[in-house]
Amino acid sequence: MSAERQPIGVIGTGYVGLVTAAGFAQLGSDVFCIDIDADKIARLKAGEIPIYEPGLAEMVAANSARMHFSTKIGDALARARLLFVAVGTPPTYSGDADLSAVYAVVEAIPAGSARGGEQGHALVMKSTVPAGTGASIKRVLAEQGKHGLCYVSCPEFLKEGSAVKDFMSPDRVVIGDDGDWAGDAVVELYAPLDAPLVHTDIASAEMVKLASNASLATKISFINEIANVCEETGADVVEVAKGMGLDDRIGHKFLQAGIGFGGSCFPKDVNALKQLAGNSGYHFQLLNAVIEVNELQKRRVISKLLKHLGSLVGVKVCLLGLAFKPNTDDMRDASSLVLSARLQADGAHVRVYDPVAEREARSLIRGVHFATDALDAAQGADAVVLVTEWREFLELDWAQVAARMSGKLVLDGRNALDAHAVAAAGLTYEGIGRGSLTSLSG
Ligand code: UGA
Repeated sequence: MSAERQPIGVIGTGYVGLVTAAGFAQLGSDVFCIDIDADKIARLKAGEIPIYEPGLAEMVAANSARMHFSTKIGDALARARLLFVAVGTPPTYSGDADLSAVYAVVEAIPAGSARGGEQGHALVMKSTVPAGTGASIKRVLAEQGKHGLCYVSCPEFLKEGSAVKDFMSPDRVVIGDDGDWAGDAVVELYAPLDAPLVHTDIASAEMVKLASNASLATKISFINEIANVCEETGADVVEVAKGMGLDDRIGHKFLQAGIGFGGSCFPKDVNALKQLAGNSGYHFQLLNAVIEVNELQKRRVISKLLKHLGSLVGVKVCLLGLAFKPNTDDMRDASSLVLSARLQADGAHVRVYDPVAEREARSLIRGVHFATDALDAAQGADAVVLVTEWREFLELDWAQVAARMSGKLVLDGRNALDAHAVAAAGLTYEGIGRGSLTSLSG
């Protein structure tokens, strides 16, 4: 890559910040990564990657000469004009996004560094923020006398588990600005990726992000409701999704029925968009349903277990997978949190196993037995539930699982297992939105 690539600052070294930093370093920029967490910065300096994200450690290592870590925002300000903001915006009790970390960054930039024109700095917002945040931040900057500081909205569309690939080959790049130098500078930064570009105003860029996540979440809740109707009518949702997805206008992606969406984004962003609408006096009915369907979907496993086992008191249930999806250790809003708590509340003994998320899970899930592997988790189980479709679970030898279990029920919460392989081991298979084994084997 050319040596003239402009240096950048990245504030926040979580999933989004680190992947963005490593990605731009890979494209040839010097990247100054800032985080207030001194421990995290020390680990990063020592070459340790604090999160599990496939390919990230390798990318950081390959670009270590261009990646600089510090707790002082001044280190980024001194060397870079574009400061990517990638700090957390968790939900508050009201469902609004908590923007305190974003405003702490605004606050931390000294007025003196906000020179105007080509010499100045710009904040480039990567954190997911409500539409209108850019306008509010610009107002605050003006109040604080930081007139030269520009603002660009550049939402991120990375998926955990494939974030490195998503950075390097994005479906699109969305950049919203007020027509100053900063937007063009960000466009230039992304140019080598050769991705379709939406260069627009700040409020529209912010809304693209929220609307995209809400639309994907709606698609999932929709197929989950179709799945529930399939169970009533004898249809198989996997076949239905296949038939629907072949329509170009619908597409196959995000039509996988299961036990609900989780993660740090969909639950938070759908709620934030609902609140945003509500705060402006608009009642976003559809999103209410998306959220409610998702909550009920997580609990469907319980009713399925009750249907097969009668009561859950004293019953041993094995949960395979805890992370909110495979290839991540992220436990935020994972369906396993609701499931493990509900099962225990109903009197079940719960054995769990996740190949990567155990460390995160231990602080969040109490009272369960953390097994050493899938077979250990299945030991003595009356029922095995697939919660997260890690590849190693899809390749399990079901005869070995059956030999460990004391019961026969396998609930496939992600419709990801080979039903016939499960049945061939003498087990009873039940998925989401498809018949139990009897109808599947027919
Ligand atoms: C999501 C979006 O897909 C990204 O584009 C976005 O950048 C990101 O949020 C964000 O806002 O930062 P992510 O949360 O990493 O990415 O995960 P997804 O792959 O979208 O999955 C979210 C949840 O939906 C998971 O729990 C997954 O199991 C579930 N899901 C997904 C389904 O239940 N069915 C599907 O068909 C697809």
